[in-house]
Amino acid sequence: MTKISLTVNGSRYEREVEENRTLLRFLREDLGLTGTKEGCGAGECGACTVFLDGLTVNSCMVLAVEADGRKVETIEGEARDGKLSPIQEAFRDNHAVQCGFCTSGMIMSTRELLQRNPKPSVEEIKEGIEGNFCRCTGYQQIVEAVLDASGQLKEKGELRHA
Ligand code: FES
Ligand code: FES
Repeated sequence: MTKISLTVNGSRYEREVEENRTLLRFLREDLGLTGTKEGCGAGECGACTVFLDGLTVNSCMVLAVEADGRKVETIEGEARDGKLSPIQEAFRDNHAVQCGFCTSGMIMSTRELLQRNPKPSVEEIKEGIEGNFCRCTGYQQIVEAVLDASGQLKEKGELRHA
């Protein structure tokens, strides 16, 4: 076991972890933050996407010990004071959530995309979420949600029917 100390959604945690424990399992099972989902467990689906020091990672591919001394952000930190974030509202309003299994990871990837490119094109959105698989929506509503979150949906209303 190794002692680690890290910040998750602004709160400090110190825990003993097994060296082979993934950050995903640590978040879900040790901290009870089950909003981050486990899909493939192999770095392929993006369901487990979280921020690590400001960049998105697949938390199934990162060891908890690698997060020692670092800053992690998960879907649980997205809403503030009981209020959904603009990205969460956009996903809700554009019916971009069906089973919801991909949604936490999608929202993390959307946030990362909009931080580096506040007005992405449809192509750039598709590239930005290409590491996140959704089995339900066919992606169109998700693309619309990202456009909405970036303030572009009204300007591009015709895309609703593309
Ligand atoms: S569960 Fe991590 S990428 Fe699929
Ligand atoms: S909403 Fe079901 S996998 Fe995306």
